[in-house]
Amino acid sequence: MDKLVINGGKPLYGSIDISGAKNAAVAIVPAALMASSGVCVIDNIPDIEDVLCLERILLSLGCRVDKVANTITIDSSIINGTDAITNDMRNMRASYYLIGALLGRFREAKVVLPGGCPIGVRPIDQHIKGFEALGAVVKIEGGTVFVTAEKLIGTSIYFDVVSVGATINVMLAATLAEGTTILENSAKEPHVVDVANFLNSMGANIKGTGTDVIRIVGVSELKGCDYSVIPDQIEAGTFMLATAGCGGEVIINNVIPKHLESITAKLEEMGAQVIQNGESVTVKSEGKLKGVNIKTLPYPGFPTDVQQPMSSILAVSMGRSIVNESIYESRMMHVDELKKMGAKISVEGRIATIDGVDKLTGAKVRATDLRAGAALIIAGLIADGVTEITDIDHIDRGYLNIEEKFRKLGADIKRVTE
Ligand code: EPZ
Repeated sequence: MDKLVINGGKPLYGSIDISGAKNAAVAIVPAALMASSGVCVIDNIPDIEDVLCLERILLSLGCRVDKVANTITIDSSIINGTDAITNDMRNMRASYYLIGALLGRFREAKVVLPGGCPIGVRPIDQHIKGFEALGAVVKIEGGTVFVTAEKLIGTSIYFDVVSVGATINVMLAATLAEGTTILENSAKEPHVVDVANFLNSMGANIKGTGTDVIRIVGVSELKGCDYSVIPDQIEAGTFMLATAGCGGEVIINNVIPKHLESITAKLEEMGAQVIQNGESVTVKSEGKLKGVNIKTLPYPGFPTDVQQPMSSILAVSMGRSIVNESIYESRMMHVDELKKMGAKISVEGRIATIDGVDKLTGAKVRATDLRAGAALIIAGLIADGVTEITDIDHIDRGYLNIEEKFRKLGADIKRVTE
């Protein structure tokens, strides 16, 4: 097993390029199988494990999948089945997008129930509600989801919970339904908009993404297209927070500053400087920040996916900070690991109370999930001494070559194979 070894306490200087958005790519790759003719050529695809797993699943379904650097070419005209069961899909969340894509094109799908980060129950009841509203029959047996539909008929669907996954998944199926579907109380994340833009490039008719009401007029078929995935809002946020916490000055290229506004606002409140410049943001920090309160919310609120990395810098910020994780019921597993490094944090349910300490001290810690891993990297970069992070396969699911990107900024971090 690999581990990351960090010798912390150094400021970060230089520039890095952000990769394509994981949470857009893991929906766009499955969506590509909806093209009954033509070829999808998709650029800025991040070479991360979750995306590689989906590429393997499309190959197992008979698609032709070629990759050159970060451009993937997918030909789904020759697909030979709708049984998308493969062993390695059990440890990722986004395999559920295969249901909406296969149901939309073939009116049937067989997919294992999603895995992913252990940060809560993470049900898919809203996905099922949407599929059933369109006319599908959904059965779950032995951890496998079987979905079939004679027809898919457009309708109005009101989501009980704002859900990124349900919004995208039902949008996929509705794209090839008969008639018009209205999705209400929809998620507005940048990656929801990106998936809709990709589908429209394939010939779909979707309007309203980025608001909470999305209108989808069903079309008869989708074709291949050329597309480029948006930059990863969460990776950019992770590097912004790391720079603010370590101190220094870093130019973060290939971003959409608007997607980072809630993170920028919080960092400025804490005393860091964030300068937007076209498709880059520059973060400047003396390293000593003021504690703030955080409440995670659906976009455009503070993203839950940077709550854990933010907690690492709040652990060494001045004063008391309250973190309210309103999206997930148990996204606090990084706290016990941060406490091994000297953090003063207490957790009651979804609320973490963080009392800033002067410094953290390096320790042996474990990445319990993807963004907890990112939080521990930031804590290790800030801490005095050596931090060893194990179970970093979680981190590789969502960040491409994260240690190389930090090394480029002057961090003393290396991947060691045990
Ligand atoms: C996506 O997960 C992201 N994953 C998550 O990122 C992200 O944290 C989340 O959206 C919120 O932004 C991918 O895109 C692959 P949700 P998703 O459905 O779609 C509840 C990361 O670190 N809910 O928006 O699974 C759910 O339990 C990962 O990159 C239902 O109750 O999230 C949660 O409390 C972690 N019923 C809330 O809604 C449902 O049917 C938001 O979940 C679906 C969700």
